[in-house]
Amino acid sequence: MTDLPAETRRIVLASQAAGLPTLQNFRIEGHPIGPLKDGEVLTRTLCFSLDPGTRSRLSSGASYAPPLRIGDPIDGFAVGEVIATANDRFAVGDLVASGGGWAEHAVFPGRGYIQKIPHLRLPLSLWIGVLGVPGMTAWFGLKRVARLAPGERVLITSAAGPVGATAVQIARSIGAARIVGVAGGEEKAEWLRAAAGAHEVVDYRAATDLQAALKAASPEGYDVLFDNVGNEMIDTVIPLLRPGGRIVISGQLADYNLAAGEAPGVHNTRYFIANRLRMEGLVVFDDLKAFPDAQAQLGAMIESGEVKFQEHRYRGLGAAPQAFIDLFTGPAFGRRIVEIADAGEV
Ligand SMILES: NC(=O)c1ccc[n+]([C@@H]2O[C@H](COP(=O)([O-])OP(=O)(O)OC[C@H]3O[C@@H](n4cnc5c(N)ncnc54)[C@H](OP(=O)(O)O)[C@@H]3O)[C@@H](O)[C@H]2O)c1
Repeated sequence: MTDLPAETRRIVLASQAAGLPTLQNFRIEGHPIGPLKDGEVLTRTLCFSLDPGTRSRLSSGASYAPPLRIGDPIDGFAVGEVIATANDRFAVGDLVASGGGWAEHAVFPGRGYIQKIPHLRLPLSLWIGVLGVPGMTAWFGLKRVARLAPGERVLITSAAGPVGATAVQIARSIGAARIVGVAGGEEKAEWLRAAAGAHEVVDYRAATDLQAALKAASPEGYDVLFDNVGNEMIDTVIPLLRPGGRIVISGQLADYNLAAGEAPGVHNTRYFIANRLRMEGLVVFDDLKAFPDAQAQLGAMIESGEVKFQEHRYRGLGAAPQAFIDLFTGPAFGRRIVEIADAGEV
């Protein structure tokens, strides 16, 4: 225990965000690491992820997770190596995925999200990417919530992101007859068609009439909308849904940076009656117990080359705030991973 660090470095909330976050909303601080209490586990962070859902915690507003207070550490998913433990479920040297946050070390408090990484056949970063929360969101969103069936038509928004791109490929493996993605820019569209297997990709920024473009991409309409973007998109798609259509609310990328009350409403609810539509949100942790089985199936699909993924990597704790801001504006796509460990470890 003598060579354990006395302190770690982490990023905390310096001020609440208004609109798109700025660098001034974040601050790096040193934070003491005390003796572990019963049940706690200390990890050395190897890498962590940048998650758009974190935005909803940077200011007050309606979210299923409460807003962070000034000085609170920023949360996020991390892969770490256990370096000290007061929990008999974990041993020094174990590799885990957990909600370790934007920090060089993390203390797992004994309850909450943590998972031992079951094998080393795939890059460790995948356990906070395609095999972690984003991949599981796509998996349970399409399979449990939407119950997407072979032969159905599905529309997936923010389709080049880690949730969307995994959803496109799960839809293909289910046997969807038509898979349409919505994404910004030709590079994303090209990857979605060539690597992920989308039948069509609509660039929502370039389309002058988005609803017409979405209809042209699937003239018979859609059985499922897997939405990562928010209310305006949902309202645009509702009239295109077929009888019995389902909307999965996964995320609200277009609405996260709006102040409370600024998000547009959903108006086209009259279509719900005639077409017997259903709309349902998901919190992926509701399916936590089923993660291992889903991860085994999805992992096998990655190993066989059936499912592909994109990552965009950054180096060092200090890179996280700008990389997080770029999630909403930058041209990069795929899971955003900040490497903390020595290059090559993740
Ligand atoms: N419900 C759950 O349990 C759960 C769990 C995890 C994640 N999620 C949600 O899943 C969604 C996708 O997450 P992800 O990690 O895969 O992130 P992501 O889709 O990679 O998010 C970044 C992308 O969002 C798109 N975007 C940004 N601003 C936008 C806007 N105003 N309108 C439309 N698109 C915009 C951009 O792509 P383009 O260039 O293509 O626009 C950007 O590259 C997020 O909403 C996240 O909160 C939900």
